[in-house]
Amino acid sequence: MSIDQTSQPIKPLRIAVLVSGSGSNLQVLIDAMQAGALPIEIVGVISNRDDAYALTRATDAAIPVAVLSHVASGKRMGIKTFEAHANEQLIAWQPDLIVLAGFMRVLSGSFIDNAPAPMINLHPSLLPVYKGLDTHQRVLQAGDRYHGCSIHKVTAELDAGQVLTQAVLSVDINDTAESLQSRVQKLEHKLLPWTILLLAKNVLSLEAESTSQANQYLPTLPLQLFITS
Ligand code: GAR
Repeated sequence: MSIDQTSQPIKPLRIAVLVSGSGSNLQVLIDAMQAGALPIEIVGVISNRDDAYALTRATDAAIPVAVLSHVASGKRMGIKTFEAHANEQLIAWQPDLIVLAGFMRVLSGSFIDNAPAPMINLHPSLLPVYKGLDTHQRVLQAGDRYHGCSIHKVTAELDAGQVLTQAVLSVDINDTAESLQSRVQKLEHKLLPWTILLLAKNVLSLEAESTSQANQYLPTLPLQLFITS
């Protein structure tokens, strides 16, 4: 149990994380949890790929994992089967919050609606622009001056749920898709723990749209983070 600044003990937020790849964002959450810097308990990690490095990160931290590989023994696992197993596993872990951190399968509305906890997704663009894939390339092609990442509530429509927080950078004349990916990922590593802290402390709420921001003295959503260094 963590102690907040007013010395009130706060119950750790139980988090399940869904991943598909490297898991650098998962690692930030693991490090923050282990350092006692975030009032969270990562109760389990689900991967849809058995070769995701995120699984090694979770296992090294003694976090339970479930591998629901979309290519299990040469046979493609359909999304319905994946969702049935994932739902069962999530119910067993009893999370308060489900975090999609680099999870690359599109989930159905019924899975999202029936999940045992609300879901947030980390997306590498300043939503509502550039939903979907290849966001860095599309920013460069459009000649945009600003780019960044967003955390939004997950709804049936892809990358379209209410945006809670964003981190912003200015695009440099020398930026490439690769450099933007790396710069945005550094922002993500700040944005994800910050957003989860706001949720854990009930500054942000994932309940109905009208009550989505518990603190009326904060600016309207999305809250934006500009990191200058
Ligand atoms: C992150 O950059 C995240 O924004 C992106 O995948 C990466 C995962 O990195 N997510 C999406 O594109 C979702 N549409 P990580 O595995 O190192 O955390």
